[in-house]
Amino acid sequence: MPIPLSRPPIDDEIKGAVLAAIDSRQYILGPQCRAFEEEFARYNGAKHAVLTSSATSALWMTLKAFGVKSGDEVLVPSHTAFPTVEAICFAGAVPIFVDVDDSYTVDVRDAAVKATPRTVGFVPVHLYGHPADLPAIQRLCAERSLWLMEDCAQAHGAAWQGRKVGSFGRAGAFSFYPSKNLTVMGDGGLLVTDDDDVAARCRRIRDHGRLNKDVHAEIGFNLRFNDIQAAVGRVLLRRLDAMNDHRRALAARYVTGLAGLPLLLPTERPGARHVYHLFVVRTPRRGELARFLKDKGIATGIHYPVPCHKQPAVEHLSAPALERTERIVTEILTLPISAGHTEAEVDEVVAAVRQFFGG
Ligand SMILES: Cc1ncc(COP(=O)(O)O)c(C=O)c1O
Repeated sequence: MPIPLSRPPIDDEIKGAVLAAIDSRQYILGPQCRAFEEEFARYNGAKHAVLTSSATSALWMTLKAFGVKSGDEVLVPSHTAFPTVEAICFAGAVPIFVDVDDSYTVDVRDAAVKATPRTVGFVPVHLYGHPADLPAIQRLCAERSLWLMEDCAQAHGAAWQGRKVGSFGRAGAFSFYPSKNLTVMGDGGLLVTDDDDVAARCRRIRDHGRLNKDVHAEIGFNLRFNDIQAAVGRVLLRRLDAMNDHRRALAARYVTGLAGLPLLLPTERPGARHVYHLFVVRTPRRGELARFLKDKGIATGIHYPVPCHKQPAVEHLSAPALERTERIVTEILTLPISAGHTEAEVDEVVAAVRQFFGG
């Protein structure tokens, strides 16, 4: 049987929740959406959660609500999914690309060097499910008077010293895309914040800038969410910790099984709870290994082959080179992992990788 990169859960409880939401005849920002927002906010230790159409929308709305204006600079790791950067650009700001450290998350020392008097904020990314260096990020933000917005699109349930990511800055954004640790079986996103004004402004922006049914206070957009998908999110939120525990167990199995090979394995920063959205290894023989695994029916991925600062869409910014980012993107390879994978599948991948390296 082929082994996919990720396998979202599908079962009768989820199907039942979808059918009940259909029967309710309330489809947009209705009771399922309100309950999902309340439950997610409680789960994450936040005062507010605001559902929207994607993490890209959540990031963009929040930056608008922060009052980001044209020409403002925002620190962001280049090694992330392009939407992190796109949201910053779409809000009118200029992304200042920062290198990564050995954990693949933002190098805070490089961020300190790159910040200028025009820099207003920092968007670190908890990439692959691993919390970025939050204490160092918070220190830098305090020293330079920057707001902090966490991109938690890949890190639902990840934590630093027991506290969930998304709660360390002014806001945090999550994605519910099908492969994510928590999905709604389609696109979807959410932001968490303790700031009443940011939450209220985002609720307004996501619904055409509406104050009430008939009055539009500002130009917003349609970035609303729907009850059918919220019903799925509620079922899966109840399972999130167990699903993350399963991912962590599979990751531990990979680490044990792949030990001793000429392959760099992911690590967990002391104090961090990594939720292994992706299991990323590093080898200069990445292309050969990917082809070898593909021939055995094992899917792999590259997250991400083209760093954001080198994307044609932001060529005009003439961003300076980022040494570590540019090196790692030629070596990283994502192996299959998700709450839907079995230990036997991980063992099969481990055996194939060992065979490739002749060990
Ligand atoms: C780190 C990161 N940020 C932002 C996004 C954007 O998420 P969405 O697809 O929900 O807009 C993604 C999704 O790929 C992501 O991985």
